Amino acid sequence: FRVDWDLVTAEKAGFDHFMLKEIYEQPKAYRDTMMGRISDDGRSVVLNEIGMTAEQIRGIRKIQIVACGTAMHAGLVGKTVIESLARIPVETDVASEYRYRSPIITPDTLVIVVSQSGETADTLAALREAKRNGARVMAITNVVGSSVAREADDVIITQAGPEIAVASTKAYTSQLIAFYLFGLFLADTLGTRDADAIAEVVAAMHELPEKVERILTEAPVLKSLAESLAKHNNLFFIGRGVDFAVVQEGSLKLKEISYIHSEAYAAGELKHGTLALIEEGIPVISLISQEDLYEKTLSNIKEVKARGAHVLAVVNEGLEEEVGKSVDELFAIPKTLPLLAPALSVVPLQLLAYYASLARGNDVDKPRNLAKSVTVE
Ligand code: AGP
Repeated sequence: FRVDWDLVTAEKAGFDHFMLKEIYEQPKAYRDTMMGRISDDGRSVVLNEIGMTAEQIRGIRKIQIVACGTAMHAGLVGKTVIESLARIPVETDVASEYRYRSPIITPDTLVIVVSQSGETADTLAALREAKRNGARVMAITNVVGSSVAREADDVIITQAGPEIAVASTKAYTSQLIAFYLFGLFLADTLGTRDADAIAEVVAAMHELPEKVERILTEAPVLKSLAESLAKHNNLFFIGRGVDFAVVQEGSLKLKEISYIHSEAYAAGELKHGTLALIEEGIPVISLISQEDLYEKTLSNIKEVKARGAHVLAVVNEGLEEEVGKSVDELFAIPKTLPLLAPALSVVPLQLLAYYASLARGNDVDKPRNLAKSVTVE
């Protein structure tokens, strides 16, 4: 009798891969990232790490969010969050493009860089460019003492804990939590949301970890759906509004570890070219968490179904019956406020990517050609 044991296995805490472990750590990461940052009465957000005065915040005319890959996708959600809660215009940029487009950076611009590692070369270069031009820079990062954390004026540390898998999961969702907190903080300072409205969002945020746990209990369903997807070499994701931001992340996750080519499309944009690629049997994963847009997305689902697509819809609980009539497969997610939906809806997409990679026999935690931290430009 011999027990196989090594440090790596021990660190995986019984999970087959770091990625799976990190997906399951998300409820804790949400709680830890919120911890100490919400007032006892739940009616305001406390971000003591932000050095900006109320007057400086009132002086912000524009926000630019700059990041790479998954962190940039968190920024896409961050744009919607900040614009909706605080009504400040937000631009998002891929860090490797930012410096080369002569961005208009003024002293009343707040630049937010997002980086799990805090060491991504392009993101660091964007941060330096922003500072050179007189902007204030805030970082959202997972690593205390990282280059980005050291050089930014203000830092929100996500409390995701170490992320080992190359494919980012809990860092992304913790970045979303950081954006929710910061959006509420801005809204409070600027008076764009009153304490009751803030309390409503905060209460819904507190329910997110338990709702993620409910999604995780459905992992076997996602495993079997992923095993069917794994037989294809091409597929599409569609979504509207903030769902479009989330499907971009779902598509990246799938490409990165399963090597299945996929594209994420704004659902209404399909008819401007992409429908030509829809043929018999091609999988289309459609996300519907934004109920005000649901009928529009449903009509896009019908467009692809009419051309032979095999549609898997990820929808809010309550929409199953209506959407179920028009799709081949359905996965329901718990309901939350529309703005918070990305913190739930991305989870099934992470699991689909994980199980598709597994079904294809890939090295899930260390996909080919990729590094955890990209320190070259
Ligand atoms: C995520 O799954 C990727 N591995 C990648 O896109 C990553 O998010 C990107 O390289 C940015 O890394 P950072 O957050 O450490 O800056």
